[in-house]
Amino acid sequence: MTFDTIIRGGNVVTPTGTVIADVGITGETIAAIGPGLAPSGDTKVLDAAGHHVIPGVLDVHVHLELPFCGTTSSDDYRSGTRAGACGGVTTLIDFAIPYAGESLNDAADNWMKRAEGKALIDYTFHICITRWNEHKDQIKGMVDRGFTTFKEFMIYESEGWQSDDRAMFGTLEKMKEYGTMLLVHAESARVLDELIARHHTPELMQQYGARLHAMTRPNFIEAEAIQRAVMWSEVTGGQLYIVHMSTAEGTEIVKQAQARGVPVVAETCAQYLVLNDDVFGRDDGHLFACCPQLKKPADSARLWQGLRDGTVSVISTDTCTFTREQKAMWEGDWTRIPMGMPGLETLLPVVYTHGVLANKLSLDEMCLKLSTNPARIMGLYPRKGTIAVGSDADLAIIHPTATRTVSPETMETNADWSPFEGWDLAGFARTTLSRGEVIVENYRVVGKEGRGKWLPRTTAGIHVRR
Ligand code: URP
Ligand code: ZN
Ligand code: ZN
Repeated sequence: MTFDTIIRGGNVVTPTGTVIADVGITGETIAAIGPGLAPSGDTKVLDAAGHHVIPGVLDVHVHLELPFCGTTSSDDYRSGTRAGACGGVTTLIDFAIPYAGESLNDAADNWMKRAEGKALIDYTFHICITRWNEHKDQIKGMVDRGFTTFKEFMIYESEGWQSDDRAMFGTLEKMKEYGTMLLVHAESARVLDELIARHHTPELMQQYGARLHAMTRPNFIEAEAIQRAVMWSEVTGGQLYIVHMSTAEGTEIVKQAQARGVPVVAETCAQYLVLNDDVFGRDDGHLFACCPQLKKPADSARLWQGLRDGTVSVISTDTCTFTREQKAMWEGDWTRIPMGMPGLETLLPVVYTHGVLANKLSLDEMCLKLSTNPARIMGLYPRKGTIAVGSDADLAIIHPTATRTVSPETMETNADWSPFEGWDLAGFARTTLSRGEVIVENYRVVGKEGRGKWLPRTTAGIHVRR
């Protein structure tokens, strides 16, 4: 067998265990895993001795160039995918959102255009259903076009994105019929509106500033919404994926639903695992505003536990980047903060450092939550998400202990801040390969923009998995 590339002597995370081995790559796929693979004259040999070789990360919750909160998120497909590659991300899934008058097809076309010619890594989209009456008969056409995951938001009425129970119920019926999956942003809109209205006074804003973001979103705002979405999944049998789950209560509801056999899985994000709502008391606390907001250390602890016991299947980022200047649009009113944070570049380093090195997750468990489960759940496995013969050669090589200090100045993101600024993190990708091509070498991007490919999917691989 001849190889274009051999990754030599790394600690390789495979589906059957972690072994010191070589990985042989021919063309875009993994051709062999084993000891002492022999190079031919042209074979490029990458030394991975003393390093972990892990499957490329799939960040299945990303928003690039998103028009939102009166501005547009600052990372596009160029900067966002370069950032991801430096963090070992080799696949991302964004959300195609139809705006006024647009069909689901229009939304997919618009997001395709954003990515084409810019993306460094592979990508696809969840299709957002924002107007049930208009969109319900377009869902099957999107499945036939290769989009098999859909999304509804239970909040964001002012953006024109909000879905009601009728839409969720009807969509889940269709998910059951087609074998597809509905992703839901679960927050309870009406009670949230009421709590915001009660607190939206000049006096309280003066007194509490960005802390009002947390004060108006008690944990029951998420818990009630998850409970309701789970109910619609239970009675319809439609597969449900709770995005960016942030609370202990939500985790408990999902755990109980799974025990009853409800086809529901949950994702959390790195920020909910390692940050808490104390940040809103900082002078720059408004930078950290995202929906749902950061919660308490007890919520983080329950989410880590949920990752270990299988209740929480996926860790993603919900990357939605705004610069300091964009965040300054709030002018002291927390309801006007552009909501979201950068994350693609730091997902793997945060989870590796605060999960694996802190003994909260094993290396294998980390790869399950960052690569294998997202690929399986989103219908991309075994092409993506694993180091196995025949799979795409999407890999990250990371040093087990060497740290780098998070600093926006040296990062690829267009954000001029990071929620993890100044943190020393291990787990940045020394080398990232995407379909056999080295795109990050010695912590620097070397791959060409536009090489990333759209990943069509079929319903065959869409499964709720834990
Ligand atoms: O604050 C966030 N999460 N911004 C992105 C939109 C969403 O809800 O995912
Ligand atoms: Zn959301
Ligand atoms: Zn999101």
